[in-house]
Amino acid sequence: MDISKKSTTFAGENVLETEDYEKSRNEKSRNMENPFKFGTIVEEQYFTDRKEEVDYIRTFLDSPNHLVLISPRRFGKSSVVAKAVKLSGREYIQVNLQQITSVSDLSAQLLRELFRIRPIERLRHFITHFRVIPTITSNPITGMIDVSFQPSQSTNTILEDVMMLLENAYSEDNRLIVILDEFQEILEIAPALDKQLRAIMQQQTHINYILLGSQESMMTDIFEKKKSPFYHFGALMRLKKLPREDFYNYLSERLQASYHEQYHSLANRILDFTDCHPYYSQQLAAHIWQIGQLQPETKDVFTAAIQEIVTTHSLDYERLWMHFSRTSKWILQRLASNTPFNSSEYKQSTIYSALKKMQHEGYVIYTDRYEIEDPFFKQWLLRA
Ligand SMILES: Nc1ncnc2c1ncn2[C@@H]1O[C@H](COP(=O)(O)OP(=O)(O)OP(=O)(O)O)[C@@H](O)[C@H]1O
Ligand SMILES: [Mg+2]
Repeated sequence: MDISKKSTTFAGENVLETEDYEKSRNEKSRNMENPFKFGTIVEEQYFTDRKEEVDYIRTFLDSPNHLVLISPRRFGKSSVVAKAVKLSGREYIQVNLQQITSVSDLSAQLLRELFRIRPIERLRHFITHFRVIPTITSNPITGMIDVSFQPSQSTNTILEDVMMLLENAYSEDNRLIVILDEFQEILEIAPALDKQLRAIMQQQTHINYILLGSQESMMTDIFEKKKSPFYHFGALMRLKKLPREDFYNYLSERLQASYHEQYHSLANRILDFTDCHPYYSQQLAAHIWQIGQLQPETKDVFTAAIQEIVTTHSLDYERLWMHFSRTSKWILQRLASNTPFNSSEYKQSTIYSALKKMQHEGYVIYTDRYEIEDPFFKQWLLRA
């Protein structure tokens, strides 16, 4: 009788203990924020290194010159520019050309951004001189201003008026910073928009432009080809991956609390796997950290994290794989396994043009060599 009572109590307590443990573990991970961040602009404690780049951009902003910043996707362009601009304390506006559908849309977005930093009242006298008057509405709930132009023939006039407003609202002593992201899209928005923009920018002296782009070959063509309107428009800066030593310190410091013994080797293994890619390193570290919080009993946490990420994306990878040509598949397999491109089957010129196409599409990047952009896709290829 006693024994059965004891065992019931014991079993009951055990269940309670397990539940409490689960609860406290979940609470712990809810309360503690993941110290790694990926996918958006990183600032403050999530931002590491880039000291030289930030200084360089800042000195640029002190001059009347413009800056062109190129890197493959997710290397940290927006983050490094955001940091430098913030430190400068200057007023800035920012438009991503990937989200722009027409010239009047570009004009409206530039104007809307300006209203974000300058009250309309201070700009009203400029706007009354516009040749096409915009519709300006204010959302009473969000307080956001919306701007649109009636569809009209005179889109060139609209853009010119808005761009000259940006110029006239500032001065040589107080220049506005205009950041145009994914600038290579200028070639897609409307024919000859590059020519028109350049002609207007030529007249401006109260603006520092920072033009960002991730399509290496298009950006290089825009700024390095003699016949391009933007030929030598600004200084060209190429952002590299993060330096290993600094990134290693960043990762290991943050992993230390959960992985007292393994944090050194984990940081090293992450950087070996991602080859110091800013986004993928943060993504993998975030996953490893989360496993440490939710499944601390996991044996090989590094392999488990990679497996989880690859499995999550495997359907996308399968679809992606089907979209590649036979030559591209052959190249990707060689890149994944680090095998040279020696072939009697494919001509060197065929290999080169397939590589260029994949680079243009962002699947392959060129740093000091060609490599697969996404290390998890590479891992999927090695397992397939
Ligand atoms: N200085 C940094 N320190 C730590 N992580 C960084 C840094 N810069 C970038 N990252 C990582 O890379 C991710 C992408 O950064 P960001 O959006 O600035 O890059 P991007 O080049 O502008 O990307 P996109 O090509 O998508 O516009 C960030 O979310 C972060 O995880
Ligand atoms: Mg960006």
